[in-house]
Amino acid sequence: MKRLVKGPIGIFDSGFGGISVLKEIERILPGYRYIYLGDTARAPYGTRSMEVVHTFTEQAVDFLFKQGCRIVIIACNTASAEALRKVQQEYLPKHFPDRRVLGVVVPALEEAVRVTRSGRIGVLATGGTVRSGKFPRELRKIDKNMHVVQQAAPLLVPLVEEGEYRSPAAMLILRKYLVPLKRAGIDTLILACTHYGHFEGAIRRELGSRIKIVSEGKVVARKLKEYLARHPEMAVQLERRRGTVFYTTDLTERFRVIGAALLGRPVRPKKAVLGS
Ligand code: DGL
Repeated sequence: MKRLVKGPIGIFDSGFGGISVLKEIERILPGYRYIYLGDTARAPYGTRSMEVVHTFTEQAVDFLFKQGCRIVIIACNTASAEALRKVQQEYLPKHFPDRRVLGVVVPALEEAVRVTRSGRIGVLATGGTVRSGKFPRELRKIDKNMHVVQQAAPLLVPLVEEGEYRSPAAMLILRKYLVPLKRAGIDTLILACTHYGHFEGAIRRELGSRIKIVSEGKVVARKLKEYLARHPEMAVQLERRRGTVFYTTDLTERFRVIGAALLGRPVRPKKAVLGS
């Protein structure tokens, strides 16, 4: 009989954004082992071409599988929108057919469809995610009667990466992106970039209580829990030993400081070399 190999859950983002997803996953699924990978040397991804985002994403997934991960969550909309399908259809069957790669786009859309009343859903995302057309395309598959209003917010990722998500300048920029969405009459807004989870409080205050906010951290964590309940064959492969290891592709003081502020505990990443 084949011996059951157990391993951690991998969580990948271009930088800090995925920490908002990790935080919720650790809360709802404690007792598992996690490996977080931030491709800080090459972030942001949102301004890059689809081809490059795909190459980077495949290298990141490959790194996490080689660390023994059984499941990898791509906690990055840009990578989920531009690379997930190809990684699932081409890379996975060839290299690790018994492992899984999950993304954040479909879980976020399913949640938005569940909470919207008017069917007008706003999507605040990076330029790459907006250009990919992934959100409107996937939404049409879920429910043809829904309408998506997209807004690219290219300056928000650098603000989070700089730890500037509470400054007056950040609030001014945030408002500039939210006004068109408010004018478009949305009743639900997806924070379709995991970095934006760090702006959730400010966005709630700006939009008021009539517009519902779908923040991916909580949604993705809940969907992962449901996924493991539906797939016991994957759940048994997960190591039940509490602890999270961090890797980044560039070792900077900044990741330690901002990561710790976002997560509320010390973060000491090791260096990852991707694409080797
Ligand atoms: N956190 C990312 C996302 O969800 C990535 C942003 C970026 O690297 O541009 O899209």
